[in-house]
Amino acid sequence: MPEDPNGSLPAGDRIQKLKEQIESETIESEEEVEAFRIQYLGRKQGAITNLFDEIGDLPPEERPEFGRRVNALKSRAEERLEEARARLKREEESGAAEIDLTLPGRRDFRGSVHPLTQTLNEILRILQSLGFSAVEGPEIETDWHNFTALNFPPDHPARDMQDTFFLKDPPEGEEPRVLRTHTSPGQIRVMQEQEPPIRVAVPGRVYRNEAISYKSFCLFHQVELLYVDEGVTMAELKQVLSALARALFGEDVKLRFRPSYFPFTEPSAEVDVWGADDDHPDGGEWLEILGCGMVHPNVFRSVDVDPERYTGYAVGMGVERMAMLRHGIDDIRTFYDNDVRFLDQF
Ligand code: DAH
Repeated sequence: MPEDPNGSLPAGDRIQKLKEQIESETIESEEEVEAFRIQYLGRKQGAITNLFDEIGDLPPEERPEFGRRVNALKSRAEERLEEARARLKREEESGAAEIDLTLPGRRDFRGSVHPLTQTLNEILRILQSLGFSAVEGPEIETDWHNFTALNFPPDHPARDMQDTFFLKDPPEGEEPRVLRTHTSPGQIRVMQEQEPPIRVAVPGRVYRNEAISYKSFCLFHQVELLYVDEGVTMAELKQVLSALARALFGEDVKLRFRPSYFPFTEPSAEVDVWGADDDHPDGGEWLEILGCGMVHPNVFRSVDVDPERYTGYAVGMGVERMAMLRHGIDDIRTFYDNDVRFLDQF
């Protein structure tokens, strides 16, 4: 007989111990089912089987009671085996139902670069190839950088509460501050820090207190260009803008330079791109993408650059406009809705 840890106990107590042991056994795999069966019910040396063999050694009057208890124990052990087998079978079947190999796989959710950022990156890449390096300026500007230094007269309508977000109550002795309404103050900051020759692109967010519609939003993006050196001409400006438009919209892009007015340039122009549209009665329309001009001498004076020695051109372009033209988007607000169904297309 194998070593029986309960062997020295009276037969009745051994039945009780075995019962507890059988109840506490965990049976969670086919292997454990088989091990349990052999340990308790095995034909040779099963713990319960061995108890039956002891009946003959007992006084005759104890045999019926002992036999009844061992039988009950055996039934309980068999019950536990049946339970475990049924449970394992159920698990196997339901597990098989959960994995349906014919189902299509789940698509990974991946973020993508926002269409505005894509267009901005493309613009900066092209400008870099034309010799412009990107620098940034602050979104909160002084009134001086945003307006005064750019030759806005004190009563210019652009300073009106209608267009500009003013910051509340400037600290004692400090001048009023605004959310920049354009990237042009970037010109001023660069010229305050750098001597000509200067050739920079200033990208960034700008803010306007305007009615929101399909064509205007309270915030948008611009890229400012500034080139200052001796002998810079308007002809160069035209060449650079044509090269940029061809790279961005294709070789056969149609451009139009229109005379215009800005306080900080003289002469000034606006540039339109022809947007072909079959639904339009004229087959398309001219869409304004930027303002530009030769830097006004007063702007040079405000940052101590000598207007007798240097000339320069400046450009301010709208990134949303460019992205809308490139992708045929007709509502500026879609850039700011964060609707994944829109963003997914780019
Ligand atoms: N700052 C102007 C605006 O936001 C755009 C602009 C026009 C920028 C002409 C320029 C420029 O640099 O030369 O409407």
